[in-house]
Amino acid sequence: MPKLGPPAPRPPPLDPVFLRDNRSYMLNQISLTSSQPKTEDAVDLLTGCHDRIRHFTSAAMKLAHAQGATADDIQQTAAGVHRYYTVSLPLHEADEEDTLRPRLAAIADEKLTHALLAMHDQHQAIDDLLERLLPLLLLVSNNPNALHAAGAEMCSITKALSELFQAHLQMEEEVIFPAIRTSLPQEVREEMLREMRGRRNK
Ligand SMILES: [Fe+2]
Ligand SMILES: [Fe+2]
Repeated sequence: MPKLGPPAPRPPPLDPVFLRDNRSYMLNQISLTSSQPKTEDAVDLLTGCHDRIRHFTSAAMKLAHAQGATADDIQQTAAGVHRYYTVSLPLHEADEEDTLRPRLAAIADEKLTHALLAMHDQHQAIDDLLERLLPLLLLVSNNPNALHAAGAEMCSITKALSELFQAHLQMEEEVIFPAIRTSLPQEVREEMLREMRGRRNK
């Protein structure tokens, strides 16, 4: 009968601290790999706003012709579009007027200077149209039946707003935003990003 050797040493008990730390490390790894988006820069933040401007402006145009929709749908769309234009859009305009314009104006060539001036004028024209649209959105949000009477005016304002935004967003994306990445140093771009995020956390 073979002799049994000495019993194998028992594995050391798992250190609860190791378990805890290891678990939190794994959680960190999971959160880093599964939910962390690609690092956002100033241009990503600005173009994300443009996606939402296009979305809500398209919703405003559809709303103007939505007399056949349910009262709930009309109310929710009007309230959502009104909230976007009064809460989020002014933040984007401040990003461009107060964070982007002074930094780019300081280093702009003739073409960029012209684009920044056009951007400023177009913001004014957009705000003028919104001044007419917002009371109608509020009216319809409070009383969806009012869409029958207000639809024609909403249609003409939203059509003008959509055309203005189309040219405005395209000019910013093709002429102004590229200059942020090509002409501003990284520390200035990071400062812009911090400033824009801070504006949203106030
Ligand atoms: Fe703009
Ligand atoms: Fe913009």
